[in-house]
Amino acid sequence: MRNRYVIANWKMNLPPEGIGAYLDELGSAPKRDARLIVAPPFVYIPEVVRKGRGIAVAAQNCGDQKSGAFTGEVSAAMLHDVGARFAIVGHSERRNVYKDTDEMIGRRMAMALENGLTPVLCIGEDLRVRDAGGVAEHLSSQIRAVSSDALGLSGEVVVAYEPIWAIGTGRNASGAMVAETVADIRSALQRHWPSSRWDAPILYGGSVTPDNVGDLVANGNIDGFLVGGASLDSRKFLAIYDGLVGRLARA
Ligand code: PGA
Repeated sequence: MRNRYVIANWKMNLPPEGIGAYLDELGSAPKRDARLIVAPPFVYIPEVVRKGRGIAVAAQNCGDQKSGAFTGEVSAAMLHDVGARFAIVGHSERRNVYKDTDEMIGRRMAMALENGLTPVLCIGEDLRVRDAGGVAEHLSSQIRAVSSDALGLSGEVVVAYEPIWAIGTGRNASGAMVAETVADIRSALQRHWPSSRWDAPILYGGSVTPDNVGDLVANGNIDGFLVGGASLDSRKFLAIYDGLVGRLARA
């Protein structure tokens, strides 16, 4: 049975209700079958670790080098030191706005694994690629680009499928579309990654809300969610979590 995760990606935001109230709400929910994870901006990681009552913490990125003259970067060892246990790598905002390359993302993954962080590798296509029918090939090339150096290290790797056209747009992929793409991702993992990685959990992200979570869970063949906008409200985020675990409990 694969691990299931529901991750709140706050991006460069804080929950309007405040970090303490947000975490109290999450902490009071029964935890079943899937792990709740919060990914705050770097500087709030210690506060979320302290107030999180066992909720796991992810960094939104991690440095691609061990240490040295890399202004603005935070190393995986430092993130582990302050209590993070996961690191999102290769988010499309990093790839597109900050020009993270596949090579850098592969090194970030390796640094995460070497330092006891579980990397959450984001992949996804833009609308141009989808309209041209190139989704499987595009995702396969993003998966292939992660070097065998990174993949030879021990530790879990999580994949997050996030179609760029669905991120922050209110336009989510349908469950059926996600299932088809998850099958493409699994076959790319089998072609390009060592067999120990073939069964990696695959999450979906892109305009997930309490309203569309039912279809995504019922039909998407996914192991959880990476949630942006809706994760800033603890009740909405928990409703998404309940949508996943409630369905699992009935299955
Ligand atoms: P969204 O963001 O839920 O606001 O679309 C998802 C993400 O970027 O991880």
